[in-house]
Amino acid sequence: MAIVFQEKERLFTLHTASTTYQMKVDGFGYLLHLYYGDRSEGSMEYLLTYADRGFSGNPYEAEEDRTCSLDALPQEYPSQGAGDYRSPALIVRNADGACSADLRYAGHRILDGKYGLEGLPAAYGDADGKSTDGSGDQDAAQTLEIDLKDAASGLTVTLLYGVLPDKDVITRAVRLKNTGSRPVELLKVQSACLDFTWGEYDWIQFYGRHAMERTFERAPLRHGAQVIGSRRGTSSHQYNPFVILAERETTETAGGCWGLSFVYSGSFKAEAEMDQYCQTRVSMGLQDEAFSWPLAPGGTFTAPEVMMSYSGRGLGQLSRNYHRAIRHNVCRGKYKTMPRPVLINNWEVTYFDFDGGKIMDIARQAAELGVEMLVLDDGWFGKRNSDTCGLGDWYVNEEKLGGSLAHLAEQINGLGMKFGLWMEPEMVSEDSDLYRQHPDWAFAVPGKKPVRSRYQLVLDFSRREVVDHVYEQLSHVLDSANIEYVKWDMNRSICDVWSAAAGSAKQGQILHKYVLGLYDFLERINKNYPDLFIEGCSGGGGRFDAGMLYYTPQIWCSDNTDAIDRLRIQHGTSFGYPISAVGSHVSAVPNHQNGRTTSIETRGCVAMAGSFGYELDLNKITPEEKECVKAQISRFHELWELIHNGDYYRLTDPGRQGLEGEAAAWMFVREDRSEALVSAVTLDYHGNSLAPLIRLQGLDPKAVYRDAETGRQYAGAALMCAGVPLPLLGGEYRSWEMHLVREQEQE
Ligand code: GLA
Repeated sequence: MAIVFQEKERLFTLHTASTTYQMKVDGFGYLLHLYYGDRSEGSMEYLLTYADRGFSGNPYEAEEDRTCSLDALPQEYPSQGAGDYRSPALIVRNADGACSADLRYAGHRILDGKYGLEGLPAAYGDADGKSTDGSGDQDAAQTLEIDLKDAASGLTVTLLYGVLPDKDVITRAVRLKNTGSRPVELLKVQSACLDFTWGEYDWIQFYGRHAMERTFERAPLRHGAQVIGSRRGTSSHQYNPFVILAERETTETAGGCWGLSFVYSGSFKAEAEMDQYCQTRVSMGLQDEAFSWPLAPGGTFTAPEVMMSYSGRGLGQLSRNYHRAIRHNVCRGKYKTMPRPVLINNWEVTYFDFDGGKIMDIARQAAELGVEMLVLDDGWFGKRNSDTCGLGDWYVNEEKLGGSLAHLAEQINGLGMKFGLWMEPEMVSEDSDLYRQHPDWAFAVPGKKPVRSRYQLVLDFSRREVVDHVYEQLSHVLDSANIEYVKWDMNRSICDVWSAAAGSAKQGQILHKYVLGLYDFLERINKNYPDLFIEGCSGGGGRFDAGMLYYTPQIWCSDNTDAIDRLRIQHGTSFGYPISAVGSHVSAVPNHQNGRTTSIETRGCVAMAGSFGYELDLNKITPEEKECVKAQISRFHELWELIHNGDYYRLTDPGRQGLEGEAAAWMFVREDRSEALVSAVTLDYHGNSLAPLIRLQGLDPKAVYRDAETGRQYAGAALMCAGVPLPLLGGEYRSWEMHLVREQEQE
């Protein structure tokens, strides 16, 4: 069984295939954390050390004993007001105004299957987590619920642990219930907290900005706190809600590291703190600034899920744990592991300047070269001919399209292509019929002009009637034509958070309720249009998180389509998210975001480390480039399974200075190791250079592999131990690929 409770010791042990997590209830009823790391056995209670520590208080019941202090002990869910002065996971204001919660063990349940969270995304177990024959299948998901209670207020905090044994993933979430007789107010509710009593760690985060998201950054933790998060209402371009704590010596291929991935798409906070005893606490959850959640007697609140994983074999393995778990246990629907159509998107081709004829010209040429879907981007609705107006008016501009959407879709279908559509449901332009009819549906603070961004305001999705109205309008559009794909966009950060429908005591709930409204909308679409393929987007990757991936199996990774910048963006993204989630296109040169020119081969090579599609006018490329596009599409079909469902290995760090930074290289390996694709792009290139050497990973060391193009054979062990020199490609930004096929077992 994945979860074991030893009654006498009051010890909980959670096992996955390669990891163990352990905690215990101490003599005072405190839930103490003991261990999370490589798979282990037996009680690790001996790891707790007790001493009389100055200025670290003791529980009242300890009487003369001054050695037990929550200020020094590792805990599962530290709260403010219990004598622990580190950053708390929980802050509650009681009816009397005191900010205090003293949480003691009150019971637990071990359940088959992985818990779900109502109205929120959450990982799910394979086969719903149930062992089909009742024999306690080692791979079956399980749930542990532990109740902690604060006697003074009556608040019950239920910690949820979900174990996905074969994925080496343990999830956490928290349910709170006011089981007391007076109201309380939640001020901070982290979803997961991990205490480490020993060790020196690096903190790895993924920072960025619009068009330059998820840049890898690693730095040693020092005393004090390292805090990142988002206050924008979305998970944000600026900091991704995925972080890693790594031992100082940990590399791509060796050493211990712990990941925390928030299965949530709104504002968040991730903290790491090294305390006075050099212990480290990491936590993740909802952004607490401007958050408050009143809980009347009987009221409940659920904090979203954090997916944790541990790898004792370096960062690469940690990423592969997340890739598998997100692909199989977070993404849903038909497209989760299925081939996705190679698409062409008209955005960088036309921007707002198109009509039906132009779209058909793009589609015809694309179809001829093998593209399988045309996506009509922004500008098809209302009076939307620029970004100053029209959002919220989700009716088709038939004049611009030269007919109905159904007619356009039919024409596209007639070319043998699918048809997809862009939409931005959460927004409204002031210059729109919707805003003129319902100005109070947009967020705005009374007595103050709202902050504008891209001339648009944000609809108050905390209100059911707003969600219902937009849903109705958009489902009308979806029903009107053969639309097989939707790009769901969100193009600004939220400000002026104030809901005209909520009283003053409830405004602290609105930002979270907005996200719940978004999820409700997405759930309805998924349920009512099960065959629809939805790609998430927020000005590129401004809402690239495991929460969105529950509803949309793919997310437009960045508005930056330059192949070289994308190397860094996709490198950072790969730490927490699978390749199948990454929306990536070949676009025009010079690139529209940074003016860089790269070859169509290099652009194709980089875009193939993702969903793969095009976003340029294929009528305007040379005949040689057209041949290249044809070849790329058939190559992608051939290699799709290996790329999307294979194991991904980072071979270099493209952000690093020096030799390693001279090329970006990565590879995909089939799970049975029978086939691999190695890809590389040169970055710095200097006169009289020696070829950079790339050491491959994940192959079968005993097997012989044949380079499918040259026919040359290599021992798997040699490719991994000695490596392979990157051919001298003669300049920067050139790409190279090696497709390896396993030949035979070596004698
Ligand atoms: C965002 C998206 C782009 C495009 C535009 C349209 O910026 O990321 O791909 O769809 O909106 O306005």
